[in-house]
Amino acid sequence: MKFSANYVWLDGRVVKWEDAKIHVLTHALHYGTSIFEGIRAYWTGKDLLIFRLDDHVDRMFRSAKILGVKVPYTADEVRRAIIETLRANSFREDVYIRPIMFVSTPTVTLDVRMLEVSLAVIAFPFGKYLPPEGIRAAVVSWRRVSNTMLPVMAKIGGIYVNSVLALVEARNKGFDEAILMDANGYIAEGSGENVFVVRKGKIYTPPTYASILEGITRDTVIKLATDEGMYVEERPIAREEIYIADEVFLVGTAAEITPVVEIDGRTIGNGKPGPVTKKLAELYAKVVRGEVEKYLRWVTPVYST
Ligand SMILES: Cc1ncc(COP(=O)(O)O)c(C=O)c1O
Repeated sequence: MKFSANYVWLDGRVVKWEDAKIHVLTHALHYGTSIFEGIRAYWTGKDLLIFRLDDHVDRMFRSAKILGVKVPYTADEVRRAIIETLRANSFREDVYIRPIMFVSTPTVTLDVRMLEVSLAVIAFPFGKYLPPEGIRAAVVSWRRVSNTMLPVMAKIGGIYVNSVLALVEARNKGFDEAILMDANGYIAEGSGENVFVVRKGKIYTPPTYASILEGITRDTVIKLATDEGMYVEERPIAREEIYIADEVFLVGTAAEITPVVEIDGRTIGNGKPGPVTKKLAELYAKVVRGEVEKYLRWVTPVYST
């Protein structure tokens, strides 16, 4: 997959893609002191709709608060920077948006409190992240870092080394995606997705105290399923439970709703995406494109406002 576009937003200016450069002593490059988001915008044929823009920007500010840095932008300025980036590129297709705040002072000090924070917004055309027909996953040996060591609720760059190691382990073993357990051996999440299981028509997902990122897609799925009258419960999930579940699916901005059809060599259900997964995936696909009146509050049009 090649990621590129014409323009990038960097500290208040729209610059050419090839000119969006930073210094090698940038603090975030050395210590992982960046805060980022992954957002999708969907092309409807008439407009580009950003999905849950406010929620993503809010999470960025929560992550910054946890890291302890001072952000020289307001939430409204970040939202406007994102919209400006999409407009500058005149996208007329589905895109992925990567806003990133990063400690940019060229220094080796660890005290980030007074250091400069830069903001960049990168966006590029993006299709499916994982095969929508279903993936094979492995429970990996790397555990999800626990909240007592790193703030997993925050989307901070350095924490993603955990996801990188997990995914590389899964791929080395020939699987598409990793599933990580928390320090207690309960299912936490995928390398970049939250996990849901379906047993006897009921939907379960690990709670926030199982060292998960509080995913926005997870929240969307819980709301959609509840509104559809389905039973959804947040509770600890044991490893063996995902082997015997009727359905397992991963959710995330990039992965959307991806069925898991095999885990550690065990076939999940009948080895095909199950009815609950399919129903939610179809509904989700409509919601993100602004096709369901009830959830229009979640989409922000880029060109018509
Ligand atoms: C570790 C991790 N968990 C879960 C998610 C899903 O979060 P969201 O639905 O907000 O994209 C992501 C993706 O951002 C992630 O990186």
